[in-house]
Amino acid sequence: MLANGDLSRLVTDTRIHRDLFQDRAIFDLEMERIFARSWVYVGHDSQVPEPGDFLCTRIGAQPVVMVRHTDGKVHVLYNRCGHRGVKVVAEEEGNAKRFMCMYHGWTYDTNGDLDFVTQPEGYPEGRHPDKVRDGMGRIARVDDLCGFVFANQSEEGPGLRDWLGANAVCLEDLADSAPDGEVEIRGGVHRYMYRGNWKFQIDNLSDMYHPAYSHESSSRPTGQQFARRKGDKGGIEFRGKRGRVKSMDPLGVSALPNGHSWQGGLPQIENTSELHREYVRRLEARHGPERTKEVLTKTRHNVIFYPNMAMQELNPHIRVIRPVAADLTEIFVYPIRLKGAPEQMFREQIRILNGTHSASSMVQTDDVEAFARAQEGLSTTGNEWILLARAGEEKVDPATGRVSSIGTSEVAMRNHYATWLSLMSRA
Ligand code: FES
Ligand code: FE2
Repeated sequence: MLANGDLSRLVTDTRIHRDLFQDRAIFDLEMERIFARSWVYVGHDSQVPEPGDFLCTRIGAQPVVMVRHTDGKVHVLYNRCGHRGVKVVAEEEGNAKRFMCMYHGWTYDTNGDLDFVTQPEGYPEGRHPDKVRDGMGRIARVDDLCGFVFANQSEEGPGLRDWLGANAVCLEDLADSAPDGEVEIRGGVHRYMYRGNWKFQIDNLSDMYHPAYSHESSSRPTGQQFARRKGDKGGIEFRGKRGRVKSMDPLGVSALPNGHSWQGGLPQIENTSELHREYVRRLEARHGPERTKEVLTKTRHNVIFYPNMAMQELNPHIRVIRPVAADLTEIFVYPIRLKGAPEQMFREQIRILNGTHSASSMVQTDDVEAFARAQEGLSTTGNEWILLARAGEEKVDPATGRVSSIGTSEVAMRNHYATWLSLMSRA
C-alpha cells in the first residue's frame, strides 16, 4: 500500500482505515512528514528562565534540547554529538554552561556550536571539526507565542502565526487571563504512557459524544459532574430530567485550518468564592471590567494545536502528546500558572488537575482505557474501517476558515485526517 504511495485510499469523507493506527511504516512516515515538517510544540520558555537552563524533549521520535543561550535566546537543538552521534544531554532538565558528550568528551555551547574537541592534535590539517557543521545542530525554525515555543525542522511553509491561525488568539486570551499578562509552567508534570496510537488522544480532545458514557462514574447519581474550579457550584450535567443523557450538541465544536480544532466551552458556572473574587479584582485592575468579563467567559474547552499539544482554559493546563510507536504514546500534563493570580488558586488548579488528568484520575483514566481498547479492537480484521460520520449543520467563517458545528459532530476529527492526508502526501 505504501509502496504504491496511495495514502488517499486510507482516508475517505467519513471513514479512516485501521492501518493509520496499526501500521509501523505509516508511523515512521508520520514522524517524517508530519512531525519533521510542521510546527511542533516543544515547551514553554518559563521552563528555561535563565541562561544555560535546558529541557530535554522530543520532536516526534527525535530527541531535542530546548535551551536558553547566554544571549537570552531560546534554541532547540538536536540532542546528538557531532562526532559519532551519541545523545549528548542525558538529564531531563537542568542548567549547564556547556554540554559535554560522555563518549570522547567534546563540548558544546548552549547554542549547539562545537566548543572544544579533546586531543585536537589528532586531526591533521584540513580535517579539523567545524564549529557549526560538527555542532549539535539547531532546528531550522523556532518561534514562540506568549512564551509557548514551537519548532519546525523545515525551512519551508508558513510561519508560526499563520500555522496557528485562529488558535493564536487562544494563547493570547490565556495570557490575558493572568493578572500580570503572562503565564508560566511551574508546578510539575503528570506523565504516563498508554498502549495506543497518538491520534486517539488528538481525536478524543474534540469528542463531545463520549463523556456521558466513558466518564459516567465521575458524575453524581443526579448526572452532574464535579466542579472544575474551586468555588464553582457543581460541574457539567451528563444527564437531565428522568435520567436521560443530555447532548453536548449546544456547546459546539470547531475545525480550523492545519488540523487545529476546539470544543465549545463547558457551561459557565457561578463562582462566588472569595478566592475567585480576589482573582477577578486583580484582573479588573489590569483590564477593566469589560475585558475581564470577556476573559472569564470561557468559550472553548479543549483547544488542539495539531499535531501534539492541547490546552484547557477553565482549569488551565496543557497536554503534550508524544508518539513513541504506532501502539504507544506518552502524555505530559502541565498545570499553567497565571502570573499575578492568588497563589492558592494555582494550588487548587493542581489539586483539581490531579483528579481530572493524572494517571489515576477520575476522567483521563477512562479515556486512556478507551485508547488501549481501540488499539486492541483495531487489530481485528473483520472490519477495516473507523466511522467518523456524525455531522450537523456547518457554518464557515471566511476570515479564519473555521468550520463550526454541533458539539457531537465529528467534523474536527474529519479535519484532523484531511490535514493528516495533506501533510502525509507531500513527497
Ligand atoms: Fe561524542 Fe565522540 S561521540 S565525543
Ligand atoms: Fe474523555
